[in-house]
Amino acid sequence: MSDLESMSSDILGRIEAAGDLGALEAERVSALGKQGAVTQLLKTLGSMTPEQRQAEGPRIHGLREQVTAAIASRKAALEAAELERKLATEMLDMTLPVRAGPQGTVHPVSQVMDELAEIFADMGFSVATGPEIEDDWHNFTALNIPESHPARAMHDTFYFDRTDADGRKMLLRTHTSPVQIRTMVNRKPPIYIIAPGRTYRSDSDATHTPMFHQVEGLVIDRGIHLGHLKWTLETFLKAYFERDDIVLRLRPSYFPFTEPSAEVDVGYTVQDGRRVLGGSDKWMELLGSGMVHPKVIEACGLDPEEWQGFAFGCGIDRLAMLKYGMDDLRAFFDGDIRWLKHYGFAALDVPTLSGGVGA
Ligand code: PHE
Repeated sequence: MSDLESMSSDILGRIEAAGDLGALEAERVSALGKQGAVTQLLKTLGSMTPEQRQAEGPRIHGLREQVTAAIASRKAALEAAELERKLATEMLDMTLPVRAGPQGTVHPVSQVMDELAEIFADMGFSVATGPEIEDDWHNFTALNIPESHPARAMHDTFYFDRTDADGRKMLLRTHTSPVQIRTMVNRKPPIYIIAPGRTYRSDSDATHTPMFHQVEGLVIDRGIHLGHLKWTLETFLKAYFERDDIVLRLRPSYFPFTEPSAEVDVGYTVQDGRRVLGGSDKWMELLGSGMVHPKVIEACGLDPEEWQGFAFGCGIDRLAMLKYGMDDLRAFFDGDIRWLKHYGFAALDVPTLSGGVGA
């Protein structure tokens, strides 16, 4: 075998043996690069006699073409093998869901609001809403709380600097009761609504936060009396706490927008240091209520001789704490993911009366 032949079979053998694109590139440089073996051989042509060049030229050029072709075909083979490997390993299952599962949880306040809507829907109530930025007519005046009334000061109201187009002072609603006014003004009785939502007062400690949640209840119909109010609250609280032994106590109280007014207490016992609702061992204040004041009905353009009703207002956060056992209200609004994972509800855990509203 001539030198050229053995050099050729040596280079071609190494190209064939290159295991990846990097190794192949190294072989290309060592054969065809500036200092490469084949390049060096081509350079020798210059110092040859014309006869030698005629004999050697085609052989050396032939070798270069052979090596170039071998590198190209090895490169194509390596690239095809790499593609095969990727196709085999980087599998993508198009039928998989976008995420492994839901990441967040439903906040207990949202859950309780859903439970309330479900329970009251069963009693024929629909859900009404109103703005959180209110004017003082809806939040106070129409509710029989005139400018000079001490109840205005008691509400620790957040006021805005500006007034609305009618010169009414703007504020963050201090209770959900303005939704009573908006509903009576905009709808014809009979009215059976609840209005859950955010409310604001300048107050902060373990049981008060500047933003909190209330649910308002309002019934306006003919011949409504206190008995309807008591039955409604009892039915609601038994369904909500999922206990038949819930006992209520109505205590005479005062709200400017109800007459008579009653504070409603619920009976509980203490078991292992925890409050358990039911029975009439001890009493805890739960909500405010009463018969809608005739002046309020009148302020909404209805005739109090024809239409009567009752209303109640209850803290939703309190309801959630009592049912699900949290003891610090502030944690509700910290947005701590660990708290939410512990107390939150799965997204598909929709409360229904048949499935249990506490599901
Ligand atoms: N709005 C009252 C409050 O926030 C509660 C209430 C509502 C009382 C309806 C009576 C009737 O304290």
